[in-house]
Amino acid sequence: MSEYSFGNPEIIEEEVDILIIGGGMAACGAAFEAKRWIDKAMEQGINLKVKLVDKAAMSRSGAVAQGLSAINTYMGENDPADYVRYVRDDLMGITREDLVYDVGRHVDDSVHNFEKWGLPIWKQPGDEGKTLAEGGKGVRSGKWQIMINGESYKWVVAEAAKNAIGTENIAEHVFIVRLETDRNDPKRIAGAAGFSVRDNTLHVYKFKCCLLAAGGAVNVFRPRSVGEGIGRAWYPVWNAGSTYSMAAECGAELTLMENRFVPARFKDGYGPVGAWFLLFKARALNAFGENYQKKNYGSLKDHGYDAYATGLKMGTCLRNHLMMQELKDGRGPLFIDTPTAMSNLAQNMTPQEIRHLEAEAWEDFLDMTIAQCGVWAGENIEPDKQMSEIMPTEPYLLGSHAGCAGIWVSGPQDIPGTPDHYHWGYNRMTTVKGLFTAGDGVGASGHKFSSGSHAEGRIAAKAMVKFAIDNKDWNPEMARSVDEITAEIYAPVKTFLKHKHYTTTINVNPHYITPKMFQFRLQKIMDEYVAGISTLYQTNKTMLEVAERKLEMLREDSLKMRAKDLHELLRAWENYHRLIAAFAHMKHIQFREESRYPGYYYRTDYMKIDDEHWKCFTNSTFNRHTGEWKLWKVPYVQLIRKSDDEPEAIARPPSRVT
Ligand code: FAD
Ligand code: ADX
Repeated sequence: MSEYSFGNPEIIEEEVDILIIGGGMAACGAAFEAKRWIDKAMEQGINLKVKLVDKAAMSRSGAVAQGLSAINTYMGENDPADYVRYVRDDLMGITREDLVYDVGRHVDDSVHNFEKWGLPIWKQPGDEGKTLAEGGKGVRSGKWQIMINGESYKWVVAEAAKNAIGTENIAEHVFIVRLETDRNDPKRIAGAAGFSVRDNTLHVYKFKCCLLAAGGAVNVFRPRSVGEGIGRAWYPVWNAGSTYSMAAECGAELTLMENRFVPARFKDGYGPVGAWFLLFKARALNAFGENYQKKNYGSLKDHGYDAYATGLKMGTCLRNHLMMQELKDGRGPLFIDTPTAMSNLAQNMTPQEIRHLEAEAWEDFLDMTIAQCGVWAGENIEPDKQMSEIMPTEPYLLGSHAGCAGIWVSGPQDIPGTPDHYHWGYNRMTTVKGLFTAGDGVGASGHKFSSGSHAEGRIAAKAMVKFAIDNKDWNPEMARSVDEITAEIYAPVKTFLKHKHYTTTINVNPHYITPKMFQFRLQKIMDEYVAGISTLYQTNKTMLEVAERKLEMLREDSLKMRAKDLHELLRAWENYHRLIAAFAHMKHIQFREESRYPGYYYRTDYMKIDDEHWKCFTNSTFNRHTGEWKLWKVPYVQLIRKSDDEPEAIARPPSRVT
């Protein structure tokens, strides 16, 4: 390829029955499950073709790229109904209980498969030789989590997906930019288009149905990391909001996009805290050595936040809220007391067991967030001797962790009490016919984590195979021609080639904006006006109006992004996806006139939780031709009773659908 010859890509068109976009946990689950049902269809003489497209290399793509140290959703001895209660409470009362229950009743099968495929799962003493499926007891860190040696977790799960559908049906390093609706039905999906980030090819897929599982949105907000550290974040920087933006741009309804996740993390290295709080039983302290969670508990009453806490047991955002009180009042830095936790645990241990404990403390991060070990090593921190700082990070948009932003989907049909607006068709299908999603894509149902995302991908895949069979004779026709799509995707390249000689340095030019500068602009707007770190997660009506005006200008300027090489073309489209996801987030925060998720963000003009008016979903659609957003309230329906003692028992849903 000569210096700029990549402007005219080779076009590769393909038609399949099922396209899977993404190669992460949900997508791998989908590939694995699709194969099972495709094989069954084949027995009846129906031949279905599936293809998976990932922007990266599946063995290390997505949030699990560096590995994980726990499986955060495993039922085991627990009841899926109880899991619904936990998720509902953590997400401040508003949850699609049908979807959560569905994940809960299926998730363990995915975990048992992970173990079968080679993932080492910690076992209780005496159960070491027994798999979970054989009744072996895992080591629980919390009620829902089990510990793993998970450095190669993604390899293991990706390998199973590859074995299922075959590497010939997997395209890696292809970034999907657009979904295309059907020429004859604008509410139906017919195709997708993207480009290879490795060679000069543009890929157009036509299909009967598609799973959009491209993860959450990272780097929408200005991160805490700067300079050389920039790019360091907790959630994966390569997931750029493609799921939310592509869905919104083809007309799918989004839900609860005001929600975000602001995790408390080990400062600068972004090391997760779960193992430290739950397994090692560490406490978090303020600058004066006080347990701020206990000390500030009373402040939850101020705006009615205590309605969603049971004593010191409270959801993730409320724990954050208590931490943020300290930061606002100048009582930081905050610390996680690792030395006390470790010495408490070591009290009855042999020297050899203590060495093992120290190794586990490091391995938690070596398995999952290596940068945290870098910070410890670089700053001479020995966790058994010195405390580490913790800090709330910049916000991320996601639907699989302790957050619930995402797309509105149809749920299972067999949960008693399911209202019509929860179930209108195939399980996990969005409001666009033939478009399915899972994992971070599904809104209003968080706390799936890695295992639940895999299980949800499987649930979606089963429904997609049925959809493909039911629509066997339908032929997809995309609303736009391949030439139009190509012109749009390669526009940043053309912009660059046309104007690059106007100035003496290619990075300064009145005719275009570099993707990097575009990203800085987006992050600055979101940070300063949409409750980022610089305002301590606070915003109000006027700030949001300013944000809207600035974001609209940025949307206009998005047409002027340049791409001087394939890498920049990727960056340009990632940032466009971030922009649309950011827009959705801002519009939803503007719409919801309350502070439903204190500790994630505050509407300072509506600090209360207002159950009377806002205990509901907020849904939206976007018209990409006019730029108009529509938002409305959707009723929340409680399906699982509050406790087993509640008299008006709702009939128990079936435990598993095979
Ligand atoms: P992902 O697994 O992130 O997959 C997204 C996929 O989409 C990737 O393959 C990506 O390459 C691809 N993609 C993105 N954009 C495009 C595009 N435009 N075109 C094509 N492909 C695209 N969970 C646990 O259970 N236990 C833990 O201990 C745990 N710890 C975590 C620690 C860290 C540091 C992180 C980041 C996450 C952790 N999680 C944990 C959460 C878990 O990893 C996620 O919940 C889960 O991976 C979400 O699955 P997903 O399929 O929705 O997204
Ligand atoms: S991770 O996915 O990046 O590892 P994290 O460490 O925050 O995230 O959480 C792991 C699990 O522990 C999640 O299920 C989370 O909800 C839970 N968790 C983390 N901190 C606490 C805490 N202080 N109390 C209760 N549960 C927690």
